[in-house]
Amino acid sequence: MPENVLEVEDLHMIYPGGVHAVRGISFNVNEGESVAIIGSSGSGKSTVLRCINRLIEPTEGIVSLKGEQINTPHTDVNNLRSRIGMVFQSFELFAHLKVLDNVTLGLRHVRKMSKGEAKERALSVLERVDMLDRIDAYPGNLSGGQKQRVAIARALAMQPEVLLFDEPTSALDPELIGSVLETIKGLAEEGMTMLIVTHEISFARDVADRVIYMDEGVVAEEGPSSIINNPKSERLKKFLSSLHEDEVPEQVHEEGSEATGER
Ligand SMILES: Nc1ncnc2c1ncn2[C@@H]1O[C@H](COP(=O)(O)OP(=O)(O)O)[C@@H](O)[C@H]1O
Ligand SMILES: [Mg+2]
Repeated sequence: MPENVLEVEDLHMIYPGGVHAVRGISFNVNEGESVAIIGSSGSGKSTVLRCINRLIEPTEGIVSLKGEQINTPHTDVNNLRSRIGMVFQSFELFAHLKVLDNVTLGLRHVRKMSKGEAKERALSVLERVDMLDRIDAYPGNLSGGQKQRVAIARALAMQPEVLLFDEPTSALDPELIGSVLETIKGLAEEGMTMLIVTHEISFARDVADRVIYMDEGVVAEEGPSSIINNPKSERLKKFLSSLHEDEVPEQVHEEGSEATGER
């Protein structure tokens, strides 16, 4: 039996004001698995991720990490966030810190590493995302694709048990998307456990082991990533056909030359 890393059971989220954004969602992510969540805007994808790492508290339901419930009043949220990495659409790097310091900050303050240890760990993850040559740059002098790779390195440095991505390429210019998707694909091949919200349907199909299609706060269809080519439900069929054809190319985008200026 594969080890169950992340489990969500009957999750509900009703926002103050009454929007019932998530309406009874259950799924799990096994060790070494990449699971993609797809679905139209407003279907509740980000809400699910925010409930998992406790940026918001679900109205109902259980979130467990390696068999232990983590949405309880006794859960140490800082410790939890070091076990569950998160990469956002908007990078969320510290603008006043150099690339290297963005990555060492959590290692020093949360992991309590020495300066030398933190630097060594940071350099190894920055090498993995191909950013070793920019360790002294400030985020403002990086392209969006480079910033996102630094954000991924920062999450990886903490050696999380699972990594969550919320539309990691949706703020990027088309020519910068490829390097970020390639980085995530590399992590999938190395066996990183990941839950990836993405609107890159061909990426989900080619890289994820399983796909969850969300519609109006519920899981409307889920299965192996082949369901993208062979959807069963009318709702998933309709969603896929609503996408422009150029969003479902045969292969992951290749990146051209990456600009270095602030975008
Ligand atoms: N902070 C919030 N307060 C109230 N409603 C929200 C909030 N965040 C999201 N929503 C609503 O919850 C629903 C799901 O949003 P979201 O999880 O962001 O969807 P997705 O990520 O799939 O686009 C939407 O109707 C959205 O307007
Ligand atoms: Mg979202």
